[in-house]
Amino acid sequence: MIDPSCGDGEFLALHRNSVGIEQNPISAHKAIERAPGALVHEGDFFTWATETHERFECAAGNPPFIRYQTFKGETRKRAIALCSDLGAHFTGLASSWAPFLVATAGLLKPGGRMAFVVPAEIGHAPYAAPLLEYLVASFAKVQVIAVRKKLFPSLSEDCWLLYTDGFGGSATAIDFTVIDQFAPAQIPPAPTLHIDLGEWRAVWNQRLRPYLLPASVRQLYAQAVADPYTHRLADFAKVGIGYITGDNSFFHLRPSEARRLGIPDAYLQPAIRNGRAMPEHQITKATVEAWKRNDDPVLLLRLRQGQHLPKSIRDYLSSSAGREASQGYKCRNRAPWYAVPDVQIPDYVMSYMSGRQVNLVRNAAKVSCTNSVHSIRVKDAALAKRLLPEWSSPFVRLSCELEGHALGGGMLKLEPREAGRVMFPAASVAAEAKAADIEGAISTLQRWRHYAD
Ligand SMILES: C[S@@+](CC[C@H](N)C(=O)[O-])C[C@H]1O[C@@H](n2cnc3c(N)ncnc32)[C@H](O)[C@@H]1O
Repeated sequence: MIDPSCGDGEFLALHRNSVGIEQNPISAHKAIERAPGALVHEGDFFTWATETHERFECAAGNPPFIRYQTFKGETRKRAIALCSDLGAHFTGLASSWAPFLVATAGLLKPGGRMAFVVPAEIGHAPYAAPLLEYLVASFAKVQVIAVRKKLFPSLSEDCWLLYTDGFGGSATAIDFTVIDQFAPAQIPPAPTLHIDLGEWRAVWNQRLRPYLLPASVRQLYAQAVADPYTHRLADFAKVGIGYITGDNSFFHLRPSEARRLGIPDAYLQPAIRNGRAMPEHQITKATVEAWKRNDDPVLLLRLRQGQHLPKSIRDYLSSSAGREASQGYKCRNRAPWYAVPDVQIPDYVMSYMSGRQVNLVRNAAKVSCTNSVHSIRVKDAALAKRLLPEWSSPFVRLSCELEGHALGGGMLKLEPREAGRVMFPAASVAAEAKAADIEGAISTLQRWRHYAD
């Protein structure tokens, strides 16, 4: 057995003929003490995997969950290249655990099998798709076990389990087991569902999370996907991110500060800074007046390249706060440093981290927005007028849960790409939906993201 990231030997100690690789020397030494019968190599797994000729009957472990921002340099390059040789193509956005599994599979003998702890991201992350595609093309059996309650209560990360068997074969389905709580067992629990690969690709964008829902709800959703009268948000609106100032406190002034500094109104653009400032339905002139009355820092200093600047602004830019702001990463890398790019006036703004429901608010007051909310610009006004009133309907709320993804702390996050996929079902399909079933499905997904337990 091989454990590619054996830590202090938790798995090695339970097997009589095992090999472990571990980068951290302290953990590697603990593993040697704890599993004297095992062979432990200290170093980077991908380097070792590239060089070794050893092959294994089985693999087990808990690979490191290092996000792409920190999984970089030579290790990542080597990992991505090795996976690419094996036929799994990851972009730079893959977390470390996915290449770990592919590179480990590449070290198995024909017929070999694997058992791994994996983050629940395997159910939705874009980089889980090339991993699962590789697994179904390389193993006769691929099973994912979704575990609702935390496997490791002290971690923010939810973990699921992955079993594969029959290396060298290929699978026609993904076996899926949904359990509420992990219970140790000698053999994997039986699958509760065989996921058809064609449907998984065509309807579910290669995500497993939708399979947490009852078949009746999935069928209805699939019916809506196939209906020509169904639309996605991206069919009639462009979802983007708001502007990035590089120093929010310097670029956003309170009305009292703007008055004290003598900055003319023509250079100040009211803006919504975050989801908390969002009213329920629309941002009106009265909303902006209320922000100003509260003296909230909602006035963006909006300056453009080549513009003549009054003395009051020049003084503010050369103040000590201005000098400090100009040295920040974003400001240093644009010219002139004080001109915030991409300041748009969206038609709607959307919260991208939500608790119960994703908030979509009409921007009647024509404010701008930071990247703490999404900016929505309508491309097809007639379609938008007809469909956006449905935003709070059960079906669209379910679509937000399905197209978005769970973040720690019970929150639902929608990236712009995910928000663009939010679906407005054809009226005939919506009419068929039983509100109680859809509400039940929403609650199920909220329970899985720990918003409600
Ligand atoms: C989640 S821990 C798992 C440890 C052990 N299997 C357990 O369950 O207790 C992941 C381990 O991967 C190791 N690791 C991270 N990057 C590595 C690399 N490139 N090569 C080998 N090990 C690595 C870390 O040092 C850490 O010990």
